[in-house]
Amino acid sequence: MPGIKIVTIGGGSSYTPELVEGFINRYKELPVRELWLVDIPEGSEKLAIIGALAKRMVEKAGVPLEIYTSLDRREALTGADFVTTQIRVGQLDARAKDEAIPLKYGVIGQETNGPGGLFKGLRTIPVILDICRDIETYCPNAWLINFSNPAGMVTEAVLRYSNITKTVGLCNVPVGMRMGVAEMLGVDADRIHIDFAGLNHMVYGLNIYLDGETITEDVLDKLVSGNGLTMKNIVDLGWDKDFIRGLAALPCPYHRYYYQTSKLLEEEQEDFAEKGTRAQVVKQLEKELFDIYKNPDLTVKPKQLEERGGAYYSDAACSLINSIYNNKGDIQPVNTQNNGAIAGIPDDSAVEVNCVITKDGPKPIAVGDLPVATRGLVQQIKSFEQISAEAAVTGDYQKAMLAMTINPLVPSDTIAKNILDEMMEAHRDYLPQFVNQVTS
Ligand code: G6P
Repeated sequence: MPGIKIVTIGGGSSYTPELVEGFINRYKELPVRELWLVDIPEGSEKLAIIGALAKRMVEKAGVPLEIYTSLDRREALTGADFVTTQIRVGQLDARAKDEAIPLKYGVIGQETNGPGGLFKGLRTIPVILDICRDIETYCPNAWLINFSNPAGMVTEAVLRYSNITKTVGLCNVPVGMRMGVAEMLGVDADRIHIDFAGLNHMVYGLNIYLDGETITEDVLDKLVSGNGLTMKNIVDLGWDKDFIRGLAALPCPYHRYYYQTSKLLEEEQEDFAEKGTRAQVVKQLEKELFDIYKNPDLTVKPKQLEERGGAYYSDAACSLINSIYNNKGDIQPVNTQNNGAIAGIPDDSAVEVNCVITKDGPKPIAVGDLPVATRGLVQQIKSFEQISAEAAVTGDYQKAMLAMTINPLVPSDTIAKNILDEMMEAHRDYLPQFVNQVTS
């Protein structure tokens, strides 16, 4: 029977039920015949729970989709059509360090921004590049859809340092922004269109439309009058109205780290003293989720999954796969090679931008120059991502130091070095490429 083979690396993730739900809902258009959930031995218990739930979900839905679980990545990859990656190297304990260590130095501790983002990239990129090599060997025609964070930096690395060309980076932030605007206006999300441009976790809505009519100013007015637009994992502090009117674009929730740094740092420090890092909160949430997932009577994705910041991630992945498979030609915001779409960003770098999705992948829609209000920050973060990716591949300490220092959330070279050295030591086990480096 013809059909599609999907392999999900990091299949034991608590987000996987959303992916399964997405494939079930689209089965008629997108006949997934096999879904292979792959994980590492440390994740085998979670994998077994997720695998059993996934089997109950497809059985209940009555779709002929076979679920396989495996610890053997190569066996699983053989003959795959699409590979999705959702890995967390070092798991939540490593994330807790990314979030806690910078705070000691008065710097934002966040999993994808600032020093935390750099170290998550340094740990993740070599593993993703290893997966790319396996894809070349075992399923050379497959599409790699990555949603491992930091997704922008990972896409940058795949584009620059692997032989994989059929690759897309995905994020739920644009979906979340569209849904947030729809909620703000009390309309269906399908009626909203946003011109997205920028980078992952650094994307702006340049123009916003309702049924094709521009409504950017109305949305910005609503935004500054208390209709927050944020995500479960980022605190909503409101926006200054004069700033937002001056910016004249919709910032993404992660922009708060850059435009509201000191207030957010204070909040983070208070939260840290009260309940620890976000990683610790997520650990508790995961524990609760897995207890729910274990219930043999559960046959659908539970509502509680929406408490996680990454809700709708997998849904975005399923729509993307659907559009590639069916050559839909619809517009979706994804991370892909710039190819001149955004002026002032290297052509061969990854950007997050609206694309027409075809069977040959995403075709970015040209933006030209970003507005001057947004351009500088985007370019600076792009340089940070590019240098971080290079450091991750080469294990060059000086490149890592450079990346840390040019990050706008890090105030000086001295602080950069202190954080860098402490984090290098803390993550030693997951940074084999840096072992034996002279650090000063
Ligand atoms: C947002 C980001 C994701 C990130 C997630 C974290 O949705 O877009 O990239 O993974 O938040 O959520 P968590 O519940 O793990 O803090």
